[in-house]
Amino acid sequence: MRIAFLTGAGMSAESGVPTFRDALTGLWARYDPEQLATEAAFRRDPALCWGWYRWRAALVRRALPHAGHLGIAALANSGHAVSVVTQNVDDLHERAGSTGVIHLHGSLFASRCLDCGHRVSPDPILADLPPGDAGARETPPPCPACGGPFRPGVVWFGEALPEAAWTAAGDVLDRCGLLVVVGTSGLVHPAASLPMRARRRGVRVVEINPVESAVSTFADEHLRMPASAGIQSLLDRLR
Ligand code: OAD
Repeated sequence: MRIAFLTGAGMSAESGVPTFRDALTGLWARYDPEQLATEAAFRRDPALCWGWYRWRAALVRRALPHAGHLGIAALANSGHAVSVVTQNVDDLHERAGSTGVIHLHGSLFASRCLDCGHRVSPDPILADLPPGDAGARETPPPCPACGGPFRPGVVWFGEALPEAAWTAAGDVLDRCGLLVVVGTSGLVHPAASLPMRARRRGVRVVEINPVESAVSTFADEHLRMPASAGIQSLLDRLR
């Protein structure tokens, strides 16, 4: 069977990577996206933004994939065609062994020049980690090609999703026979429209999330548990 996973921040929560909208622990409960996650914010205060994304990159580097990430990767070796579409900017699916992961919101590890798009290797976001506290301001390094500041490779509010990723995600959702939606509030568009795209074709949608989300209203089945337990229970059935 063709199985598609659509994952959000809740997928990485058990690895110690904070979600965005959970009360108290979510990043947007503690930080203002208007100051950190738009191009205007970066242009206004590049050191604040670069330091914050360096902190997040360091946090992800220290995190390890959990049983849920590993379970999805293992499923691909058990006769099913598995695709992973993620809103996450971490690399935990890849480190668990999943291949061809589609990143709708970019990656923490794909910095580029804000002005000309130039990239360098190694990625400067990883230079001399860990950078310290979330509050540490750090001036982004200058681009060797044009002198502009480096920016993180994530999609900010107001920006279009990477076209290739969006097209590939649509293709996955149009071809899958089962959709498993893990750990997303289903509030951020256009990613949030993807589950409905499969549902309209009559595809079975399973949601794994300890609490209700915008996906819950049309999902066929709800596993009200954390990602690792939910994926394990699903795999037990599929094997
Ligand atoms: P949210 O923070 O909006 O939602 C996280 C979801 O994960 C919530 O529904 C939680 O109930 C659920 N959750 C929490 N812990 C969980 C666990 N252990 N197992 C399973 N689920 C759990 O995160 P996203 O929906 O991913 O955008 O947010 C979408 C986008 O908004 C993000 O990609 C980010 C943010 O602004 C960009 O960075 C562009």
